[in-house]
Amino acid sequence: MSYYPQDKIDEVNEAADLVELVSHYVSLKRAGAAYKGLCPFHSEKTPSFVVTPHRRMFHCFGCGVGGGPIRFLMMISGQSFPEAVEELARRYGVELPAPEKSDRPRENRENRAALHEALQKSADYYEKNLWGPEGGAARAYLGGRGLSQRQAREFKLGLSLPGWEGLRRCLAAQGFGDQVMLEAGLIKPGREKGHFYDLFRDRLMVPIVGPEGRVAGFGGRLLADQEGRPKYINSPETPVYKKERLLFGFHRARPFLRSAGLVFLVEGYFDLISLVAAGINEVVAPLGTALTARQLGLLRGQVREVMLLFDSDEAGQRAAARALPLLLNAELDGRVLVLPQGHDPDSFVREFGAEALFEAATQAMDIVDFQVAHLRRSHPDSPAGQARMAREARELVALVPDSVNSRLLRRRLARLLGLDEELLGAFRKERAGERRLTHERRPGARPAQSCDQQAGQLLRHILIYPETAGPVLGEMAAWWPDDASRPLFERLKKVYEERGRIEPQDALDDESDEIAALVSGAALSERENSPEEAAAVAGEYMGRLRQNRVRQRRGELTAAVRRAEARGDQAEALRLLKEKISLPQ
Ligand code: UTP
Ligand code: MN
Repeated sequence: MSYYPQDKIDEVNEAADLVELVSHYVSLKRAGAAYKGLCPFHSEKTPSFVVTPHRRMFHCFGCGVGGGPIRFLMMISGQSFPEAVEELARRYGVELPAPEKSDRPRENRENRAALHEALQKSADYYEKNLWGPEGGAARAYLGGRGLSQRQAREFKLGLSLPGWEGLRRCLAAQGFGDQVMLEAGLIKPGREKGHFYDLFRDRLMVPIVGPEGRVAGFGGRLLADQEGRPKYINSPETPVYKKERLLFGFHRARPFLRSAGLVFLVEGYFDLISLVAAGINEVVAPLGTALTARQLGLLRGQVREVMLLFDSDEAGQRAAARALPLLLNAELDGRVLVLPQGHDPDSFVREFGAEALFEAATQAMDIVDFQVAHLRRSHPDSPAGQARMAREARELVALVPDSVNSRLLRRRLARLLGLDEELLGAFRKERAGERRLTHERRPGARPAQSCDQQAGQLLRHILIYPETAGPVLGEMAAWWPDDASRPLFERLKKVYEERGRIEPQDALDDESDEIAALVSGAALSERENSPEEAAAVAGEYMGRLRQNRVRQRRGELTAAVRRAEARGDQAEALRLLKEKISLPQ
């Protein structure tokens, strides 16, 4: 939910000159009523990035992103939705209401700002400790790891002190309350009520900066490894620190990524710091957990290839198996570089330098080949061994939901492993309607599927064929899934009730990247079906959505009946059963 009212957002979208805005970043050429250029969100050689000024939308047919002016500015600058609204309003002279009413979204925003501020002040405090009288040992530690003061400052490294409340007192003196510190993950409640103590004590502090450049949390490392104490402790999940969405080093790497086309992915904070110290700017690290689709989403607009660096074949194998489906879905090439025995990226660049790492990278194996080599190595050539190998390969294919990508993977694995394609899993037969509708949507364009697929397809369909919208918007409210597509459905329904028709512009919603891309993609699609076909396809989707909802409700009722029976509430069980029986088949 955004803080600005919808009519203001519409006004900003209308005032913004999308072609002018985009032209600051992309060189556009006229193509009929539209403009084309090289997509700034993925690297490509032939232009598939299209701007349609009359619809005020952009869309990339290469990587699938799209939306209106607000979304463009959000994506290119890393700003949040309200920030992008504010900047466009400023640029194109729209007056926004004064920020006074404190409704909830606004509170959230203010709250997040307060958390960021507390975190920033904490980073300042830790940094001051490191370079002050109490930082001697920590400075010696960094020196021992080959890091200069300049390099430490670049990452704003710091030091938490051994006491229990150093940070808490420092922040309290600047007016921060315990509640904010608690929510920012900086302090923990003690045993006595109302007592709190610092989460990080006596550790080297590594600030984790979010994609927009603000401190989001910390990793804190022991200065000397100690039995029984974790080497690192990290910020807990907070409203601003969600480790699945953050990549250490991403903000500082971003300006280098697009021209490099490639990013190194390492596991440790210090691996990253060492690579940067050696002059390699294109490097990011997840925060101590396996790579996620969200993290790849950050990289996807910037690079084509991810070079995964591992310190042993075994670690590499495990991580690569998990990363492979994510990479395929994000349409990123992955390569795996296993460093020589006994080296991690940190020790490797310190001993051999950046050039040697680039040299080694030229030998890195494509991630699919890497998996194939592993599968071959770990299964004997016997019939049973081959059967196990086929099963593992099939499991790998099954992890890739997109049908084109999984098909390509299946084909490739079958060829490399010398197996029949059929052994690696059968594909669902597509229905005719689906095939017609999906033809030009690139596979894997959406990493996170928060929107029900059928519902998304149906919305897309009624945007391309607005004459089919009436029955869909009129009849489907009770059946529509409660997912990311629901707000768009409601919105179109409202527009339709007011005006009796809809247009893609009405659907512009830059708050959700998934919906924004769905709408811009639909706006730029050609009509290919006759009106009768289009109506039939809409009908088919409506039927499927109803069925899905019925199936879901039936499942819910079955569980509820069981619970009621377990409680001995026969009357309730009977009532639920009746509802279940009365569901359409
Ligand atoms: P490493 O142990 O490889 O970390 O763990 P490192 O950063 O290279 O540390 P040094 O070289 O020993 O100083 C990889 C990553 O796993 C997470 C951290 O994100 C770390 O950077 N981790 C590791 C933790 O979160 N907790 C731990 O106790 C250990
Ligand atoms: Mn390390």
